[in-house]
Amino acid sequence: MTDIITLLVDALGSEQVSLGADVADRSTSYWRPEPTSTLALLRPRSTAEVSQILALCHAHNQPVVLQGGLTGCVDGAISADHEIILSLERMNTIESIDPVSGTVTVEAGVILEVLQTTLAEQGFMFPLDLGARGSCTIGGNIATNAGGINVLRYGMMRDLVLGLEAVLADGTILSSMNRMIKNNAGYDIKQLFIGSEGTMGVVTRAVVKTYPRSTSMNTAMIAVKDFNAVTELLQYLRSALGGSLSAFEVMWGDYFTAVTEPGWHRAPMQRDHAFYIMVETEGSDSHTDTERFNHALEQAFKSSLIEDAVIPKSESERKSLWDIRENFEAILEKKPYYLYDVSLPIQDMPEYVALVREALMKQFSQASCYVLGHVADGNLHLFLCPGEPGKWHEDCDRIVYEPLKQFEGSISAEHGIGTEKVPWLNISRSLAEIAVMHGLKATLDPSNILNPGRVIPLQN
Ligand code: LAC
Ligand code: ZN
Repeated sequence: MTDIITLLVDALGSEQVSLGADVADRSTSYWRPEPTSTLALLRPRSTAEVSQILALCHAHNQPVVLQGGLTGCVDGAISADHEIILSLERMNTIESIDPVSGTVTVEAGVILEVLQTTLAEQGFMFPLDLGARGSCTIGGNIATNAGGINVLRYGMMRDLVLGLEAVLADGTILSSMNRMIKNNAGYDIKQLFIGSEGTMGVVTRAVVKTYPRSTSMNTAMIAVKDFNAVTELLQYLRSALGGSLSAFEVMWGDYFTAVTEPGWHRAPMQRDHAFYIMVETEGSDSHTDTERFNHALEQAFKSSLIEDAVIPKSESERKSLWDIRENFEAILEKKPYYLYDVSLPIQDMPEYVALVREALMKQFSQASCYVLGHVADGNLHLFLCPGEPGKWHEDCDRIVYEPLKQFEGSISAEHGIGTEKVPWLNISRSLAEIAVMHGLKATLDPSNILNPGRVIPLQN
């Protein structure tokens, strides 16, 4: 056993420390089934134990990789043989709910769906929602500033966190468990830990917002003929439905056709429309909300804004429609595939997608490009499938990122940088911004032990 492992076992007991060989059956991530490589997996039970671990690792220059639900898309949580994994999966208590202030206090290892369900049982809701809800954790959502399908109404994770507790690289516990919406007493330090992908500290607990549970929900899958109709429909529904529009998820026709091939999802309408949109509203009066929703769709249909629409008649039908958007296993079969997460002004999307497709087809004659996204937030996801075996990641990166420059878009709308996008960070951030990132990192983690090499390049 290496020295650091002996010290960790002495400090925590052997139950909290699993050696690398013992966790090889744990897959690397949701996206990669291969076995985990690590020196050891640590599963602390409290903030105090996280502090003990980091103090020891800091003193011994031991790199630590943080893991949540392992559903991240940019390889940020993938460990190497010499790195120790810190997983907060045992810190999974929902500590308290304050219905008057609308806050919940949780440990970082709580699974998103568990928080959603627990709150729903008590008449509340947690607005963050994404396909990985069954595995991802609140700590991971905070570390990555997760987005998902309700951002247009409730914002990203950053907008939902009021306070948090983090452990710094040297083991210092920074408790900033603010429960108020307003608190302008100096710098808002918690923001440093939100979206910095575990490079600034380990989030162990948090206070997040909760809202009264909606008592009505209306959903439709809508087909439209072109991208103009997509943006017109978005504007129309925003005004016709007031603030109740909670999701507006767009699938390009190629995506819809691919995931409804025989053997995959059943297509609820014709498969040759140009765009398909999942629209959802949440409100508090089921009768008037449904009337208003149906009326808005009828008006849009009469003015030829929409070509076809399906309204689910039951919760299981609603889930099947959402599954077409959220479950893209059909595309994951088309290896190699590369998933992207860009943002750019909404009006520029058709031109941008055309440029990407053109560059892709120029290099790979058998390629396909599947596009979908949380369009209302300017966020597109693209799957690039070169259609021939090989390692084409860098080629595809160039095809996706180069044309983004002219639209001043971002190489990451919500997935973050991880290790995957580090070489491309300078497309979306200036040298001055990157220098400040390095400065903050050096201040909070001078030995560079926390998620080293993630988000910003390693410095010699
Ligand atoms: C989604 C993931 C890929 O939106 O962010 O499905
Ligand atoms: Zn997404």
